[in-house]
Amino acid sequence: MTNNKGQISQLPADLNPQKLPQHIAVIMDGNGRWATSRGLPRIAGHRQGAKTLKELLRCCKDWGISALTAYAFSTENWRRPTEEVDFLMLLFERLLRRELAQMHREGVRISFIGDLSILPKSLQAEIERSSAETLNNQAIHFTVAVNYGSRNEIMRACRQVAELVQQGELTAEGVNENLMEKFLYTADTPEPDLLIRTSGEMRLSNFLLWQMAYTEMYFTDILWPDFDREAFHQALLSYQGRDRRFGQVKASLSA
Ligand code: IPE
Ligand code: IPE
Ligand code: MG
Repeated sequence: MTNNKGQISQLPADLNPQKLPQHIAVIMDGNGRWATSRGLPRIAGHRQGAKTLKELLRCCKDWGISALTAYAFSTENWRRPTEEVDFLMLLFERLLRRELAQMHREGVRISFIGDLSILPKSLQAEIERSSAETLNNQAIHFTVAVNYGSRNEIMRACRQVAELVQQGELTAEGVNENLMEKFLYTADTPEPDLLIRTSGEMRLSNFLLWQMAYTEMYFTDILWPDFDREAFHQALLSYQGRDRRFGQVKASLSA
């Protein structure tokens, strides 16, 4: 895969290729502030943010990271002005239409998590098409969270499990963590190793609460549209300096 100058980007020499996070989750925050600080409308920040995401996906692929999950729209983001919400829905749809062919060529498998059923029908159609078309691609798994909220996801899983118990297909004792995971949107995908949130906010905003029980967190003041390869490099350096103990006294070699 190539960067915007048409070159394949090499992993920086100070990063250990054996110790890269396999799955990275990002909360892409600060688009509005980026635009406002330039005297531009907030939507200009979202447009620029989309370019940043595209570059990050390329970079992850070039550097051998196997999964990237991006928070694009939360269940709480409907509280924003209608014009902004409408713009975002249109932007998602336009991006899918415009970028799908190239992503497919480059081996990207794209998936979506969240309650997609209430999204505009034309966006749902693009989502279905892009997920189906790229299903067997292997270069990188790119997941976009749209109308995603962790509490809603967990509640929905509980409801499905409760229905099985009610129908006598499962006993209460049969409910365990592995089973719960099968009912999450992220079923069959590994948990994130690293979470990056931009713009200085240090909260999860209802993102992957179950899945990030042992994820390393990295927060930076950089606004999302300015989050470039060097900023990503810094996040990875920080990650590689961490001791992931998973409750043990010492980090095991395999962790
Ligand atoms: C993140 O940027 C993008 C979405 C939530 C869709 P924001 O729009 O939240 O930017 P700020 O936080 O207002 O600067
Ligand atoms: C989180 O950002 C959601 C996305 C990035 C899609 P927000 O800007 O909506 O989060 P809060 O409101 O500051 O917590
Ligand atoms: Mg924000």
